[in-house]
Amino acid sequence: MVKKIVIDTDPGVDDSLAIFVALNSPELEVLGLTTIFGNAVTTTCTENALRLLEIAERIDVPVIEGANVPLNGDFRGAASFVHGDNGQGNAALSSPVTKPLDVDAVTFLKEIIETNPNEITLVPVGPLTNIANLLTIHEGIDSKIKEIVLMGGNAQSPGNATPTAEANILNDPEAADIVFSAQCEITMVGLDVTNNVFMNEEQVVTLGSFDNDKSKHIGKINPFYFDFLKDFFQDNGMPVHDSSAITYLVHPEYFETLSYPIKVETKGISRGKTWMGMGISDNEEGLGERLKPWENRRKVNICIGVDSQKVISFITERISS
Ligand code: BDR
Ligand code: CA
Repeated sequence: MVKKIVIDTDPGVDDSLAIFVALNSPELEVLGLTTIFGNAVTTTCTENALRLLEIAERIDVPVIEGANVPLNGDFRGAASFVHGDNGQGNAALSSPVTKPLDVDAVTFLKEIIETNPNEITLVPVGPLTNIANLLTIHEGIDSKIKEIVLMGGNAQSPGNATPTAEANILNDPEAADIVFSAQCEITMVGLDVTNNVFMNEEQVVTLGSFDNDKSKHIGKINPFYFDFLKDFFQDNGMPVHDSSAITYLVHPEYFETLSYPIKVETKGISRGKTWMGMGISDNEEGLGERLKPWENRRKVNICIGVDSQKVISFITERISS
């Protein structure tokens, strides 16, 4: 059955590949792109989302602009050093001619979920502010969401934005904690797997070498991102973050998961860390103080293992045409 999805995104070089892969997957029906700050400011991310849809000749998919700042009002700043000043690897690109819908992201999400109860999978691949706002403004809407499959977090591995935290979660830890308390199925595709979906230089070059406009665009925007990441990892390759979440939607069997509730730390040096509530049994009675922070949270499917070459082949195949 075709999965109806809305991608909440901060494009972003790796978001761009993820969007193209999703649009080229017949198993998925992309009903909209909601935008968020993160790799760039929100207005730039909206512009990028519009341009990506124009390149893919999919302007039937609406773009809806989301929040400009995290819940605490304090955006840490665009990741220009990773994604370029324009969020597109500093490539020279023309402005999009299309416009976002004249509605806010939370209202769009609420309406699409209510029109398709228990059918919508939300796929956030940026900071979780829009989704947290949806859950708090429209209390109870989580019971109508089919699933949330998010790129973010780190359960058993170090962070990438700080030693303890992954970038999407660190950009709004308060929002992430609200999302992990949602009463619907949640899958976390975090650094535990995305850092292991590591493309070598030849595989990266291949992504941008096909004879279609989407692949050509990736070929233009990737070099800046790749240069940053190969220095960061001191290895001639790059991890595949957001497209791994898209791959999970189509091929969950490529991933191994653990099942624990998640609590997000919002203070101190662990701000943004996604902590697993290990030790919580199915019978939650008599847990004691030790596991209180995870109480009343549903278990999250936490991806911890991945067949990385299968994920890379899938992504490469979906950008090849
Ligand atoms: C995540 O942070 C962003 O820079 C990427 O687009 C990805 O969503 C990886 O930590
Ligand atoms: Ca992203």
